[in-house]
Parts: sequence; C-alpha cells; structure tokens
Amino acid sequence: MNSIISNKSSNLSGEIIVPGDKSISHRSLIIGSAVTGKITIKNLLESEDVFATANALRQMGVTINKLSNNKWEVFGNGIGSLSGKNNMLDMGNSGTGARLLMGLVAGSDVEATFIGDESLSKRPMKRITLPLIETGAIIENINNDRLPIKIKGSKITLPIEYESSISSAQVKSSILLAGLSSLGSTTIVEPSLSRDHTERMLTYFGAKIETTKLKNSTWKITLDGIPTLIPLDIDVPSDPSSASFPIVSAIITPNSKVKVMNVCINELRIGLYKTLIEMGANIKFNNTRKINGEFIADITAETSKLKGITVPKSRVASMIDEYPILAVAAIKAKGDTIMEGVEELRYKETDRIKAICEGLQKLGIEATNTKDTMVVIGKGSKTKVNGNVQINSNLDHRIAMSFLCLGLISENPIIVEDTDTINSSFPFFLEKMKEIGAKFQQS
Ligand code: S3P
Repeated sequence: MNSIISNKSSNLSGEIIVPGDKSISHRSLIIGSAVTGKITIKNLLESEDVFATANALRQMGVTINKLSNNKWEVFGNGIGSLSGKNNMLDMGNSGTGARLLMGLVAGSDVEATFIGDESLSKRPMKRITLPLIETGAIIENINNDRLPIKIKGSKITLPIEYESSISSAQVKSSILLAGLSSLGSTTIVEPSLSRDHTERMLTYFGAKIETTKLKNSTWKITLDGIPTLIPLDIDVPSDPSSASFPIVSAIITPNSKVKVMNVCINELRIGLYKTLIEMGANIKFNNTRKINGEFIADITAETSKLKGITVPKSRVASMIDEYPILAVAAIKAKGDTIMEGVEELRYKETDRIKAICEGLQKLGIEATNTKDTMVVIGKGSKTKVNGNVQINSNLDHRIAMSFLCLGLISENPIIVEDTDTINSSFPFFLEKMKEIGAKFQQS
C-alpha cells in the first residue's frame, strides 16, 4: 500500500500537459470497436481504468494494439460484433468502463459477467440494467443492484424511449450504445444535459443524433439505429478533471502561475472553472481550437483571492467529478461555499460527501452536509490548516489527489494513504505535480 506525503509549497510554476481525457479514452476504444475498420487513437489515457476497458473488449474479440506511447489502434468489427459466451470482465475500479460496456454488450450476441474491485462492487447498477432490459438484454438476477452482473445481449435491440431520473452520461451512453444495434431510434430524456462525448464521437464517426431541450427544461437525445460508422482517427484532448488539480493548486498556493496545455473545454465539463472564476479566481483560456468534435484550450491560473459562493444544482452535471477539489479551493475562500444538489457524489468511487467532510473535519476545517448539500466554511486569508494527519483514499483517486493538493497549504504535512488508485485516472500525478514545484514525496 503506497502513500504520498504532501508538504507546504509556494511558487508553483510552469507549463504541463496532463494525461488524455478519461471519458473520451474509454469511448474511443468502445465506439472504435463498433466501427468497421481500423482507427488510430493518439494521446489515449494509459491508466488502469482504460486498460480494464481495453482488456474487456479484447476478451470479446476486438483487436487492440499499443503502437507507441499513448498511441493505440483498434480494429473495429462493426456494430453488434462482440463475441463469446463465457466472458468474465474485470472492470477494476472503472464505473464508466463497466456501465458503457454493459450497453455495448446488450447490443451484441455475447454473454458477459461484469466484476470489479471493492469500490466498484459497491456502486449502484440498476440505473443501467433497468433500461438495458427494456432493449431486450437478458440480465440474470435483475434485482441485484451491484456487481457481479451477467448480461446476455442480442444482435438486434429494441428501440426504447427512456426517461432517466438522474443526469448521468454513463446511463445515457450505455443506452445509446445499446441503441446502435436497434432497427429503430433510441431516445433518452435526462433532467439536465450530462457530458456529451458519446454523442460527439458517434456523430464524428457518422451517426445521426439529435439533442433537443424540451419545454419542461429536460433534454431529449435521439439516436438513429444501425448507423454507418466510418473509421476515423481520434486525438484525445487532455482531461479537464485531471487539469483541475494543478489549476486549483496554483490558485491556492502563494506566488504561483501554472499553465495546462490542450485541455478539453467541452461546455459540459467546465463547471468547476466557471465556478472558480465566479469565486474570483484568475483563470484564462487561450488558444481555443477544435479537434475531432471537441473544443480544447490552454488554461492558465494564478494565485487568487477567493470568495465563497452558492454553486447551484444546475451546474452539477458539468462538474460532477470536481467537487472534491472545489472543496479544497473553498477552504481558502472568504465565506461559505454552498454546493447544492450533489447527492450523486454519494455513489461515486466512494461516498465523496462523507469522505470530503470527514477529511476536512479531521484537519479542523468546518464542513457540513445534508443528503444532497455540502457546505465548506472558508476563512479567506486567515485560513490556517495545521496538517499532521493521515487521510485514506477510500480507493477514490479524486479524494486522494484533492487532499494531496490541500497539503500544499498545510503548515505540517498531510499523508494520503493507499494512493495507487490515482493511477486509475492520472498516471504520473506525483511527477507532474513535482514538475510545477509541489513538494510531494512517496513515503
Ligand atoms: C463519466 C460520467 C460521470 C463521471 C465519471 C465519468 C463518463 O458519471 O462521474 O467520472 O465518462 O460518462 P455519471 O454519468 O454517473 O455522472
């Protein structure tokens, strides 16, 4: 079990590139496998989560090769082409890999049992299995809301119209991927628009997808089944969720200025950056450009004075993974930062509301929560964090990285235990953070 010690730091500076986007990396392998022909992927995130997806696809007959650093090729066999009857897919820590692949499995003549690590085995799955059963998939023990789950798919799925009570890109994507194998069109309605990388990538490959805002402000996404998917290459932009760690570190650490290059700035992913700017952070997006259907930019951030604000529920979908690091920034803000409508955080790699509040309280910082709200009480320039505590990652990469960033402004070190989990989304996190001057060390 590895631990990292984070020590008080200042003068963070430099330009860095963080790894490829996790959501887009999973999708490039999964959607790539449904294309007929070869695609090449540049800047694929080479992390445990993405490897789990690649290995699962290989087991089901897809040829996937690594060509050189972060450059991969996928030989797609077409829609509905996964194969095998005894597949045992170990998805490790990856909720995205597991849930999206369940959708693809539902649309192939294949049988697969999904298993995962201790964290993934505690996460709810009915949100995926209930709609997939409507598409015609046979799911053993449907009342089992947790892994292991066995799915028997079929080459032709039923077109469904599904109204989801939560905004989840994993639910939406899983249904759309099953819908690829449908003779009709598949519709999903979600309360607010979640990240749309699946829709963008499918459109890039030639599928027809329509996204409409309905009168009651919910969103309807419709995919025409059995599209012709043309093999095209993908360049994965850097992950805005990973970029948030050096960016927030620069904002809270004295005399700092850091630039993170080529970051995906998809509107549905940059809620944290908008929130930080509202809190007074000095953040700039430069050199905005578009690659394979996604906007990217270089993001610069400097040490800033922050004020507490209310982050509304309407922003949750666009920053769902960034609340742990927002909570860290909120400590340095003057006044309360109130995060509304965040119940979904309870169903991530760990119950993040609990992990954040307990960790902050251990450090003497006031943080409270209800079922779906979290409040961090910041003291602005009077903020003093004593440190000298150990925080367990709870097998949650973002909890681990957030508390390590907090260590940069603590008087005494913060030790985060069980940090291997960071490899699920941000390999070389320690090295990248050291590159900009963070005093992190492996213990
Ligand atoms: C993801 C969607 C989000 C996010 C996860 C990645 C995706 O989950 O938390 O890290 O790639 O679709 P939900 O869809 O459950 O909100």
